Amino acid sequence: MLLLNVEKVLKNTTLSFKRKGIASPGLDAETLLSCYLKTDRPGLYMNFERLITDEELKWFSRWVERRKGGEPVAYIVGRKEFWSLTFEVTSGVLVPRPETEFLVEEVLGLCSDTNDHNMNVLEIGTGSGAISVAIASELEKVRIVATDIVEDVITLARKNAENNGVTGRIDFLRGNLFEPVSGKFDIIIANPPYISEEEFAQLPPEVRDFEPREALLAGSEGTEFHHDLIAEGSRYLKHGGWLLMELGAGQKDAIESMLGKNTAYDSIGFRTDYAGIERIVRARRRLVG
Ligand SMILES: C[S@@+](CC[C@H](N)C(=O)[O-])C[C@H]1O[C@@H](n2cnc3c(N)ncnc32)[C@H](O)[C@@H]1O
Repeated sequence: MLLLNVEKVLKNTTLSFKRKGIASPGLDAETLLSCYLKTDRPGLYMNFERLITDEELKWFSRWVERRKGGEPVAYIVGRKEFWSLTFEVTSGVLVPRPETEFLVEEVLGLCSDTNDHNMNVLEIGTGSGAISVAIASELEKVRIVATDIVEDVITLARKNAENNGVTGRIDFLRGNLFEPVSGKFDIIIANPPYISEEEFAQLPPEVRDFEPREALLAGSEGTEFHHDLIAEGSRYLKHGGWLLMELGAGQKDAIESMLGKNTAYDSIGFRTDYAGIERIVRARRRLVG
């Protein structure tokens, strides 16, 4: 029987993804095959002639079929890069998105503005732990409390902290929003669920059918969590501390209005992502009042 080499398997897989209408067929094929062969993408190209055994092909074909069925690559390979770190992901957590790295940048920016690297940070809804672990990897002295409502998610986030060598800097707690938290923080961050019920039906099947609903859905307007984080967050922020949240396309006005009406905050600002969408909001807990 004729054995296929890496180059041929890559070509065939890319072609079958293209035919299926997958948005990034070449990249997905490379990521799957390199993870399957326990190498990286350059490693694939350096081993184009390596033969793939029948047994390997049989198992790899299952991954290809899962991808063709719409399952995100990250769930198939069980990991995702974020902030140049590797995070284990399961179908119980949101796959960390590149635009969420802006939240990490904002926190690093605030720490360098104030030249205070001993900040107390609270993250609500930590998922894979990507944001908190990335911050802890950059700031040695930071103390972080990270929460999530799902127990299994907390277990995975803890594991990701351990795998990335920042275990001692993050306390992971399970609970609803601020319920498991006490004390006051310099910074509160959240990438909360922000998809409205109407938008949920329009999501690409890859997201809608595979990512956890509790990580996505946020009531009829998609701003339910922002509302609660703004309303309750001021009690957990030190005066002069910052609330930072990710938001969805088209949610700026609603969130600006919520913050504007709440006298606990000032210095409200937005940051756009590479697509020009207002993606991050920041607001300061007033110095007095
Ligand atoms: C959009 S995901 C963000 C995950 C991760 N921080 C990230 O950026 O990749 C939102 C997270 O909030 C969690 N969550 C949902 N409702 C919550 C609640 N009431 N209290 C705390 N966490 C909640 C979900 O389980 C999910 O992990």
